[in-house]
Amino acid sequence: MSDPRGNISDQRGGVYVDTTQITTTQPEADALVLFGATGDLAKRKLFPSLYALEKSGTLHVPVIGVARSDWSDDEFRQHARESIEEHVTDPDPDVIDSLESRLDLIQGDYSSDATWQELCDTLDRLESSTAVFYMAIPPTMFPTVAEALAAIGLNERGRIVVEKPFGRDLESAVELNRILHSVFPEDHIFRIDHYLGKEAVEDLLVFRFANTLLEPVWNRHYVRSVQVTMSESIGIEGRGSFYEGVGAIRDVLQNHLLQVVALLAMEPPAGSDPGFLQDEKAKVINAMRPIDSNALVRGQYVGYRDEPGVAEDSEVETYVAARLEIDSWRWAGVPWYVRVGKGLTEAATEAVIELKSPPRMLFDEVDSPVPERNLIRLRLGNNDGVTFALQAKTPGPNMDSQEVDVDVDFAAALGERQEAYERLLGDALMGSLRRFARQDVVEGTWRVVQPALDDPGPIFPYFRKSWGPSEADAILVNDDDIWYPPSPAR
Ligand code: BG6
Repeated sequence: MSDPRGNISDQRGGVYVDTTQITTTQPEADALVLFGATGDLAKRKLFPSLYALEKSGTLHVPVIGVARSDWSDDEFRQHARESIEEHVTDPDPDVIDSLESRLDLIQGDYSSDATWQELCDTLDRLESSTAVFYMAIPPTMFPTVAEALAAIGLNERGRIVVEKPFGRDLESAVELNRILHSVFPEDHIFRIDHYLGKEAVEDLLVFRFANTLLEPVWNRHYVRSVQVTMSESIGIEGRGSFYEGVGAIRDVLQNHLLQVVALLAMEPPAGSDPGFLQDEKAKVINAMRPIDSNALVRGQYVGYRDEPGVAEDSEVETYVAARLEIDSWRWAGVPWYVRVGKGLTEAATEAVIELKSPPRMLFDEVDSPVPERNLIRLRLGNNDGVTFALQAKTPGPNMDSQEVDVDVDFAAALGERQEAYERLLGDALMGSLRRFARQDVVEGTWRVVQPALDDPGPIFPYFRKSWGPSEADAILVNDDDIWYPPSPAR
């Protein structure tokens, strides 16, 4: 059954995407409309990204902020300047000036017709036919704004960018997508997951599929386990009331972490068309079993309940560890361990591929140590790079082995890389969907975490600067499995 925009519903009420209908490259935008322009996301990420685009000469459009704050254009420009000065090292004043000259603010309520009329008049005056409507607003507002755009016909004159989380669970994600699809076709909905804009995350594709060395071992015959850790040393940083409604499963596991797992586990895409990449991600997420509640442990750091905006008896998790199963020919039987948490020892995002042990070495001495397993560590955070932990002979009379690391630091080897938001904002303006999340993939990730949302189970306390609750060890399959600490920051 297809909806008015040509999106096709499946029998579960979700949408499967007819990739032949999707145009992955679209015309370049001629205006950027920023809903929530005076909010936190705009301040922390969007203005610094616009500055970077301006600096590199890739920003060519007017930027119209829309917000409820009662500010003048000048106050808005001053706010943008302050945000850049706070978040960019040594900003160039001339670049800030030229960015400021692009900025205007429409002040008004999203429920007022006058706000939408003013936006429409502004876009008419600018002769804009292809705007990017960026929703830097709370997710509960997405439907209101999308429907208001449609009521005045602006949905025919642009595309929308929506921030995660896309819904709160599978049902609400399906409903949100239904509403957005009643207004925009799938290829005009750019769902941001900023992890997809990180160079090191995108590199997983190149690393896997441009290195012949890896493919023969990247499967259940050689891989013993895969671990993906996203640890943050910070707490919730004053975002208590937001975080209380979300928790670690919704905040990062369902989106950032599962997107990374999909890139690590998927089959090679059939070709360079971005639709093929999304198809492979959808397939591997579909092969993932919904998380068994016995294979998931939630934790909360001690002190969380004292944070402003947090309930004193809150059961919201700031940590989650889970074992995923991917029931495919490549991965059946291989445990995928994932964990995310705030207030942990170290800030890191790292995937560790643990290879199976070789047979006992024939030249091994009696009682000599068994060689450690080979590890491939893919660092995806600020210290991005890759380390192969291999075995080499320990100097001396015995044929013993010890770990030696073959290590590449991407910053040193590859030089400066763009920030995730800068790349994604640039992509949205250029009309490239490649680094955005497709609807069926998003719904598939909700299906995987849904049992943990329905039946979250107990919550275990942990101290800050630890690696989370020790109860997480219970989900490791083998007696000698361990949670590998991520590589230290450099
Ligand atoms: C966001 C989450 O999506 O990602 C935050 O809402 C989290 O809670 C952040 O801190 C982490 O992003 P990064 O890029 O710093 O790893």
